[in-house]
This record gives sequence, structure tokens and C-alpha cells, in this order.
Amino acid sequence: MSSETNQELHVDPLERNWIVIAIGVLVAFAILITIAGFMLGIQVPTNEARVDPATFENELPWSEPGLRELVPGEEYEAYVIARQFVFDAGPEGIVVPEGARVTFYVTSADVQHGFSLEGTNVNMMVIPGQVSKLSATFEEAGEFNVICHEYCGVGHAFMAGKVVVEG
Ligand code: CUA
Repeated sequence: MSSETNQELHVDPLERNWIVIAIGVLVAFAILITIAGFMLGIQVPTNEARVDPATFENELPWSEPGLRELVPGEEYEAYVIARQFVFDAGPEGIVVPEGARVTFYVTSADVQHGFSLEGTNVNMMVIPGQVSKLSATFEEAGEFNVICHEYCGVGHAFMAGKVVVEG
């Protein structure tokens, strides 16, 4: 450190290079996250609502988990309860026609789970007391697996569900 005053701020050339690189990295990340958010459809799971894990299953919609048809053939909602070690989507499960857009509302009845839906960018944590929400449009027929990707107990590896898209 210089004790002289009235000097221009001296920045070592190497230090300046690293400052430029650091700022460049931040700008690059900002550009990439913007592209991901607006062009690739990356979604952030929203904290849609809060529920009381002790009582939520006594009231609609959670007392009747499963699919709801909003616009026939087009727009659906699915209420899914994650619990050790299943995804409960009601007795009929989630069966939709090709081209359907499904908004998933998922919460947990016990511990933290994951909800990762094959072939889509629906991937969220499921936390007791919170409702996580994400949407996906199914352009192709088939069976799409849902897997739990948060360790939730001895049956974690076998915890799976599915969405059936009929052509
Ligand atoms: Cu549920 Cu891992």
C-alpha cells in the first residue's frame, strides 16, 4: 500500500484481468439463465400454497387426489400426494390424451420427496406442508415415469409413478 495521496488508483494488470474475467463470467451466466428461462422453458417450482401435513388429506382437493379435467383434451390438473413410498394420484392414476397440458400440484404426507417427470422439465422437491406446482405439455403418446429423487427412506429406490399419454 502506498502512503502517497492524489494518485490514480493503481490496479495490477493481472488483477485487472481477473476482474474482467470475473465480470465476464457473471455476464455469461446472466445471458445463459435468460436464454434458459425464456427460450428453453426452464421453470422454477413455485411454492403454490401451504397445507397442514397433519390434516390436509381431510379436505379437497387432497382428500381426492388425482386428475381433474379443466378443458377436455387440452387442460388438466393433477393432485399428487407423495408418501413413503408411492405417488398417490388416486385410483385411476394420471391418464391424459396426446397434446394435453397438465399442471401438477404435489405435496408430501410424511417426509421430503422428489418429483422428476421423465421427458419433461418437471423436476421439483416435495416438502411436507408445501404445495409444489409445475406444468408440462405432452406432445407424444407413451408412458412417462415419475421418480423420487430425494432420499426418503428404505423404499426410496422403488418410489415411482407414471403419467400415461394416450395417442
Ligand atoms: Cu420418496 Cu425418495
